[in-house]
Amino acid sequence: MNDRLYFFDTTLRDGEQVPGCQLNTVEKIQLAKQLELLGVDIIEAGFPVSSPGDFQSVQEISKAVTWPTICALTRAVQKDIDVAAEALAFAKRKRIHTGIGTSDMHIKYKFNSTREEIIERGVAAVKYARNLVDDVEFYAEDAGRTDNEFLARVIEAMIKAGATVVNIPDTTGYCMPQEFGAKIKYLVDHVPGIENVIISTHCHNDLGMATANTLSGVLNGARQVEVTVNGIGERAGNTSLEEIAMIVKCRKDLPLATNINTTKICATSRMVSNLMNMPVQPNKAIVGRNAFAHSSGIHQDGVLKNAQTYEIIDPKDIGLDDNSIVLTARSGRAALKHHLQSLGVDLDQEKLDTVYQQFLQLADKKKDVTDDDLLILAGTHRNTGRHITIDYLQVVSGVNVRPVASIGLNIAGEHFEAAASGTGPVDAAICALKKIINRPMVMKEFTIQSINKGSDDLGKVHIQLEHNGDLYYGFGAHTDIIAASVEAYVDCINKFRN
Ligand code: KIV
Ligand code: ZN
Repeated sequence: MNDRLYFFDTTLRDGEQVPGCQLNTVEKIQLAKQLELLGVDIIEAGFPVSSPGDFQSVQEISKAVTWPTICALTRAVQKDIDVAAEALAFAKRKRIHTGIGTSDMHIKYKFNSTREEIIERGVAAVKYARNLVDDVEFYAEDAGRTDNEFLARVIEAMIKAGATVVNIPDTTGYCMPQEFGAKIKYLVDHVPGIENVIISTHCHNDLGMATANTLSGVLNGARQVEVTVNGIGERAGNTSLEEIAMIVKCRKDLPLATNINTTKICATSRMVSNLMNMPVQPNKAIVGRNAFAHSSGIHQDGVLKNAQTYEIIDPKDIGLDDNSIVLTARSGRAALKHHLQSLGVDLDQEKLDTVYQQFLQLADKKKDVTDDDLLILAGTHRNTGRHITIDYLQVVSGVNVRPVASIGLNIAGEHFEAAASGTGPVDAAICALKKIINRPMVMKEFTIQSINKGSDDLGKVHIQLEHNGDLYYGFGAHTDIIAASVEAYVDCINKFRN
């Protein structure tokens, strides 16, 4: 019988740490339920002590999700562990994930401590957590750069203290695959009692080796993989869930079994990209737009004769249905709802009505309304309910004229207007807006992207503003890129905390 490989998803914790990817509680619940459908075994729902929002999300996800284990992250600090246990109170299955840095670098510079003291602090945290829950995972932060002999001592002590899972993170993404695999093997061979716990991998992708390292860890005895959807996460991201799931599915020579329903991969990937406003790179393995697109003549010829000539994955296995209905201006609400569901978006009737109207307007302007367009319409709709909205925007620009913009904003029910000129049409519109909203703000990032091809395309704008020392991320999408830019700017301002 094949060994069970457990999937621990940290999209809602390590993934959500990415600037600009923050979700509200409702969005986190939506994603957690999708992860449950996908079949992940453990959902790391957040770091409850870090903010009231994280606490609330862990608590609400614990109530909303039925069978996966809900996990909460802590430092090796009693207060963190108490708060995590409280946030997990409603979970049917719960786990506390506690730990401490074990590399000499972390011990010296982060903790100004000693190896012995670090073991003591870890042991105290694990014992304390075990008094509150039965399932305690210990992470040895920066295990990738921790010397194996010391790491083995740490892990032995944590198992004796009651850890049920031991996590060996390559926090900085520094390890080479054979080195990471050898580290896991060293622990398997040298830590008494390790056969009674699950070894977990948690790899980061700084050198593009997260998936290879995770696999190497599994081949050497790890039986839990910590992953994120689309590989999002700190810096270059974490190991991507879909890559490990499809490696196990494709490579029948691996004696492993998982609970992942791979046909839900596509919808989950799109939901994450959509909710987090985080585009998936087109050539991303498994879920990239081009992952199944054959462009060379020789490949196309082969695929038409037999798809397996150039495809090792049946697109249907990840839920890519190439027979999906094409939406046009004549499509009804039911077709739109069905299509959105296949993309992982479930809207109630009221929201569906609004998105349907936006869809009809777009379908009148564009010949092909793509999945990405639909996801944007559904995502833009999430931003309703903000207290500043755009009433109108008019811009005059061209060659040999100074661009001028006038704008009308609705702020908490009151109408304001202003006009300004600028170096370009976007600058003119933003200058006009700033005449109404006169607050200190510095633009840190401004990117415009088209989604598909063609001059009738939707433009997506991401903006990062600094306000009173904090960074805010805004998003806008429109067939008019100036309107998209102003929407993104207003989206940022709507998020200002003070
Ligand atoms: O990368 C890391 O080491 C982590 C731990 C907190 C598990 O995310
Ligand atoms: Zn991490």
